[in-house]
Amino acid sequence: MLGKKDSLVVGLDIGTTKICAMVGQRRGEGVVEIVGIGNAPSKGLRKGVVVNIESTVQSIQKAVEEAEMMAGCQIRSVYAGISGAHIKAFNSHGIVAVKDGEVKESDVQRVVDAARAVAIPMDREIIHVFPQEFILDDQDGIKEPLGMSGVRLEAKVHIVTGAVASAQNIIKCASKTGLSVRDIVLQQYASSEAVLTPDEKELGVTLIDIGGGTTNIAIFFGGAIRHTAVLPIGGNHITSDVAVGLRTPVDPAEKIKQQYGCALSSMVSKEETIEVMSIGERKLRLVSRQALTEIIQPRVEEIFHLVHREIVRSGFEDLLAAGVVLTGGTASLHGIEEIAEKMLNGSARRGIPQSVQGLVDIVGSPIYATAVGLVLYGLRQESGGWISTKRGMVGKVRTRMREWFSEFF
Ligand SMILES: Nc1ncnc2c1ncn2[C@@H]1O[C@H](COP(=O)(O)OP(=O)(O)OP(=O)(O)O)[C@@H](O)[C@H]1O
Ligand SMILES: [Mg+2]
Repeated sequence: MLGKKDSLVVGLDIGTTKICAMVGQRRGEGVVEIVGIGNAPSKGLRKGVVVNIESTVQSIQKAVEEAEMMAGCQIRSVYAGISGAHIKAFNSHGIVAVKDGEVKESDVQRVVDAARAVAIPMDREIIHVFPQEFILDDQDGIKEPLGMSGVRLEAKVHIVTGAVASAQNIIKCASKTGLSVRDIVLQQYASSEAVLTPDEKELGVTLIDIGGGTTNIAIFFGGAIRHTAVLPIGGNHITSDVAVGLRTPVDPAEKIKQQYGCALSSMVSKEETIEVMSIGERKLRLVSRQALTEIIQPRVEEIFHLVHREIVRSGFEDLLAAGVVLTGGTASLHGIEEIAEKMLNGSARRGIPQSVQGLVDIVGSPIYATAVGLVLYGLRQESGGWISTKRGMVGKVRTRMREWFSEFF
């Protein structure tokens, strides 16, 4: 029914609130079908980082078993997402002389290697090297330099690094579940694969994935990734504000937030009221919905204030014509697009995973952007659909993963 087993790719989104295993398969040219999905609440993470191996292993096991049942397959390897405040990224560039007057794959590899040759502390490792553009002699803005004539080749790249220990903990958790990790992928890069259009990446756009414990940002311009950042703040902070502000336990606070919450208090009428359970009492109290939104709004403003700082830091503030795309679970909060437009001075839309078929009812939610993106990333890698520069690097990433792996097992 599913065709060859090895044509299945599995994304494992290890989030702060949920762990999601997603199984996808290529169905003809440009068509990806999601054939299985499994979810489990995540208990072993804090702000995007694994802090308890045992509980993370249990959650991964549950999510993977569920996905296996649905897809009717056995999962052995996954593409796993990585996040957390330890992620640091920067731009770099390298220059080489072109050997035979015409750019060959080896020249591209050498120039990318030159660009990634930066001093990195022992406890950090490179997770991605994303090429932004190549410059050949005086010609800049080249996306694919192969076969072009010239003598001096320059590459501009975006390098993402992370703490070795955090990556190793992800690999360790997968391994204890009997899974091997094919690659570790920056979560917001995965999300951007799932929800952004090529036009948006070309025009300039900020992808904001607001999860439970983190807000993950990726800024694109001219078709390339220019800036990435992870902020240790997310929807869980909104929930605890609601719990404290309304003096109610966390579980009802979460329900109230999802059902009645709104990021912009001017969007709700003064008359609306909601029922709230008090801590230690069985009685329900009536609270105005506006009081709820007044608790939520400052926290959402704080998140977008920090996002704005990253946009300014990127240097692309005035160039992002496609505005912002909001995804992750917190993108479902009412009024979040409106407040994003107000605070970030541009258009905002909600990003739900595109260009996939199968289980669309379930998968068509911003909460699955990272998991779907991991599947798309994996399929692209395995079909060799990378442009030459990336293929070389992916090879390297795999070698590096093996090194991390062998160090520990
Ligand atoms: N309808 C909704 N309205 C408001 N918030 C919501 C809604 N649905 C989900 N959320 C919030 O989304 C968050 C979970 O999102 P998501 O699953 O993307 O996070 P995660 O991937 O587990 O965490 P992270 O990416 O930070 O590690 C929770 O804080 C939850 O409260
Ligand atoms: Mg997430």
